[in-house]
Amino acid sequence: MNKQIVLNERPISYPTLSCFKEVLSPLPEISAGQILAQTIYVSLDPYIRGRMNDAPSYAPPMKLGEVINGGGISKIIESKNPKYKAGDLIFSFCGWQQYSVLESSDIMIALDPRLGPPIGALGILGMPGFTAYLGVTDIGKPKAGETMVVSAAAGAVGNIAGQIGKLKGCRTVGIASGLDKCKKLKELGFDECVDRSLPQFAESLRAACPKGIDFYFENSGGKIFETVFPLLNIKSRVALCGMSSAYNTNQLSDRPDVTSLMLAGMLTRRILIQGFMTLDHSDRFAEFNSVVAPWFLQGKLKSWDSVTLGLENAPQVFIDQMNGKSMGKVIIQVQPL
Ligand SMILES: NC(=O)c1ccc[n+]([C@@H]2O[C@H](COP(=O)([O-])OP(=O)(O)OC[C@H]3O[C@@H](n4cnc5c(N)ncnc54)[C@H](OP(=O)(O)O)[C@@H]3O)[C@@H](O)[C@H]2O)c1
Repeated sequence: MNKQIVLNERPISYPTLSCFKEVLSPLPEISAGQILAQTIYVSLDPYIRGRMNDAPSYAPPMKLGEVINGGGISKIIESKNPKYKAGDLIFSFCGWQQYSVLESSDIMIALDPRLGPPIGALGILGMPGFTAYLGVTDIGKPKAGETMVVSAAAGAVGNIAGQIGKLKGCRTVGIASGLDKCKKLKELGFDECVDRSLPQFAESLRAACPKGIDFYFENSGGKIFETVFPLLNIKSRVALCGMSSAYNTNQLSDRPDVTSLMLAGMLTRRILIQGFMTLDHSDRFAEFNSVVAPWFLQGKLKSWDSVTLGLENAPQVFIDQMNGKSMGKVIIQVQPL
């Protein structure tokens, strides 16, 4: 049988356990061109929350009863596709289930064993690492000696963005909630980490950035962005990667609208704020690998994975992630490797 976790109901704000349901289905048969794969790891990512809404976004919403979407690493157990053979490890959008039937169009990447343990394909050498690389390389373009600030720095993307910024010679300042996250970020090489959960967050951020901010890697939005904005230097850059503070609310903010003030600040300080989507750049994945994999293999970049055993734990782990309790790349191990 195939254990699956499906969308049971849509969240109104933060997801709850009742949004998810565990079901058992018969193991599917495969036809020509398809493969049957056994899931080893499933990646939990913030974009899943967007797909739980019944609203158009850059990807279509999940349907009620549909297996929760998501990428993962699987082992092929049967193949009727000449490109893949039993035993191969692949990355694909397998979803939250023990077994999946996949076709080439499910974006399968055969994993290269020379790149270290396969779990890396979900974090540092996968989508989060690629996202961090694109934001830093294409938008931040930091120069040695500049100050780079990263929000949600203890998340999958943020910790890698800061590590890449450090390799480019930046003074790196992470923003995260809690001592444990800040301690780990310093171990990963961040020069400073500011705890946004403390009342003196704004003062601490200012003190950590005595020369202002040249490059801001934005993962959070909301109050955090408003705290960072006054510190942005003339000709600074903002890589607008994510808005985690907004994903679990369907209400407009009750804070004063500061859009006009911010636009005025952007104008006078010539600030570049640019959004980007990693899915627009799949043709550059090989370039990313050629730059970042050697850094990783040489120990210049470190991976930070938080692995929980058991598919049945995925809903609670995802709820914790949406509540800011996660650290590093959030992964569920479904079966032993
Ligand atoms: N543009 C793209 O193509 C692209 C690709 C991948 C990811 N993203 C986006 O990039 C961001 C980071 O992704 P990720 O994979 O690193 O996520 P992640 O690992 O889930 O990030 C975890 C961190 O997000 C923060 N967070 C979680 N819920 C929050 C909330 N309700 N309010 C404020 N902060 C919250 C927490 O930081 P604190 O320590 O501050 O609490 C937490 O440590 C997300 O917004 C994601 O959607 C964009």
